[in-house]
Amino acid sequence: MDTLTTSLPTNLRNDGLRAWVDEMVDLCTPDAVVWCDGSQDEYDRLCQELVDAGTFIRLNQQHRPDSFLARSDPSDVARVEDRTYICSRSKGDAGPTNNWADPHEMRRTLRGLFDGCMRGRTMYVIPFSMGPIGSPIAQIGVEITDSAYVVVNMRIMTRMGSAVLDALGDHGQFIPCLHTVGAPLDDGAQDVAWPCNPDVKYIVHFPETREIWSYGSGYGGNALLGKKCLALRIASTMGRDEGWLAEHMLIMGVEDPTGQKTYVAAAFPSACGKTNFAMLEPPAALSESGWKVTTIGDDIAWIKPGPDGKVYAINPEAGYFGVAPGTSMATNPSAMRSVHANTIFTNVALTDEGDVWWEGMDGAAPAHAIDWQGNDWTPDAGRKAAHPNSRFTAPAGQNPVIDPRWDDPAGVPLSAFIFGGRRSGTMPLVHQSFNWAHGVYLAATMGSETTAAAFGEQGVVRRDPFAMLPFAGYHMADYFNHWLSFGRNLSNPPRIFGVNWFRVDADGRFVWPGFGENMRVLQWIIERSRGKAYALESPIGWMPRHQDLNWEGLEGFSEADFLTAMAVDRKEWDREILSQDELFIRLFDRLPKELLAIRDLMLSAIWRSPDHWEMTPDPT
Ligand code: OXD
Ligand code: MN
Repeated sequence: MDTLTTSLPTNLRNDGLRAWVDEMVDLCTPDAVVWCDGSQDEYDRLCQELVDAGTFIRLNQQHRPDSFLARSDPSDVARVEDRTYICSRSKGDAGPTNNWADPHEMRRTLRGLFDGCMRGRTMYVIPFSMGPIGSPIAQIGVEITDSAYVVVNMRIMTRMGSAVLDALGDHGQFIPCLHTVGAPLDDGAQDVAWPCNPDVKYIVHFPETREIWSYGSGYGGNALLGKKCLALRIASTMGRDEGWLAEHMLIMGVEDPTGQKTYVAAAFPSACGKTNFAMLEPPAALSESGWKVTTIGDDIAWIKPGPDGKVYAINPEAGYFGVAPGTSMATNPSAMRSVHANTIFTNVALTDEGDVWWEGMDGAAPAHAIDWQGNDWTPDAGRKAAHPNSRFTAPAGQNPVIDPRWDDPAGVPLSAFIFGGRRSGTMPLVHQSFNWAHGVYLAATMGSETTAAAFGEQGVVRRDPFAMLPFAGYHMADYFNHWLSFGRNLSNPPRIFGVNWFRVDADGRFVWPGFGENMRVLQWIIERSRGKAYALESPIGWMPRHQDLNWEGLEGFSEADFLTAMAVDRKEWDREILSQDELFIRLFDRLPKELLAIRDLMLSAIWRSPDHWEMTPDPT
């Protein structure tokens, strides 16, 4: 074999890693192998190579220093859930919400596809740590890829390179992650700007052997294998086996006016404003009185019990892979500041000044731009300039409200879990579960609407338990069970809350202003999880009364609006419970009995209450 191996790293001591890389070189037959050291030099060199190859456009150094724009193939713009597989030994272990294939057959298919898949390309070996290197909660992975775009993104999204080999040592365990764009270059064929395989894609997880094989896509979670594949699908099965949690959650710190810090984690389905919430800017009146929010992470949390009966969380990532459209100084100033430099943009528009633009950015649309497919665009073009799933990849350290402990290997103690979907009706602005098991029920039955609701009508609710539907690496009902038993062993568990920023009134208008004003709900959650704030028992959980929230400086939101946002309507809840049952029936073979008992208790409480339960207004 005439594969050229650039020199092996001097600190490579792990025979298992060497053997695996050798085996993958034999299988994939690249022209060259590069072990990535994670240095700035290497990053700069690869970015320049991507510019030379036409994959990257260097943005204007004045407007967006050291930043690049990539345009993907139009067939390769998002995660491919229908091509994502959990290949556990038994189909039952993957459960009805995952695609499953027999692991032996899948291995045969993949070996066929990967055979020679890197011909004419360079294989990059990327050692990376999910979580601060050396943290007892962190895990090491090694991604092999034939995409330099993946390497530079992984350098932002993970702790990557030489230091990870030191941490791995002689006998350390790593999670092997094999990736190819699935586009070999034969006989000096000319490459394209975004190589991928438009016809064949596979994102495959082998949970028992903790392996990831990804074929045919260069985009996002399909290709940056540390994120959804390792940190959620594989890590969730590791957590089940080892007694911890890998969750699709942001983590934030909330400082009160006395300087006391409380950490919370929150799960929202994709496209519910998770990054905005993680970087929430409190309204002026609250920040002047001393309330402050800081970010630990915006997408994933790994959570372990500590010896003190509390739980400790880290953000396994080191960057943000955020959705660009809708991000602006008005909706998320900290995200805008995070992408001011050193950022990779994918599928946004390019302005005539050499900067980026997307729908929803501040100010007027540019009179002319190049759209995400490389075509001329004007505001009257009748199509979007940026792809709706266009992204920025930005280092977490550039977030002006990053928490000082975001990199703490010990993690931060969590006081609350918050769960919320996009619901035009039914779900109140905020409620607290009666206990841990009820909180698991609340999270398990979480849903989000697929269609925008108009005039009080509700859209179709897609159940997305714990916002983990596409990310749980095993049977969803076993996952509920794992949460129940995890809580049973905690002497001081985080309190569990549900929120809904998206309820509409009879005229179809959002009742709640959202964005920074969510701080008011968060303040009550923080105080409540410290056992300080008052709550009223509603049919579905504990709720604040109007007088329990801080309304300082908020205009145009009346007490009547609050009561509408908090109402529990029996007709809506009848429909809700029936719809939750559809999920329970699907999972019935392994569904924990607690959840059915809680459903019955909820029904009984709802039927004991008035048809339309509303709090009585504050008499004062
Ligand atoms: C993401 C997602 O990209 O959840 O984070 O889809
Ligand atoms: Mn996500």
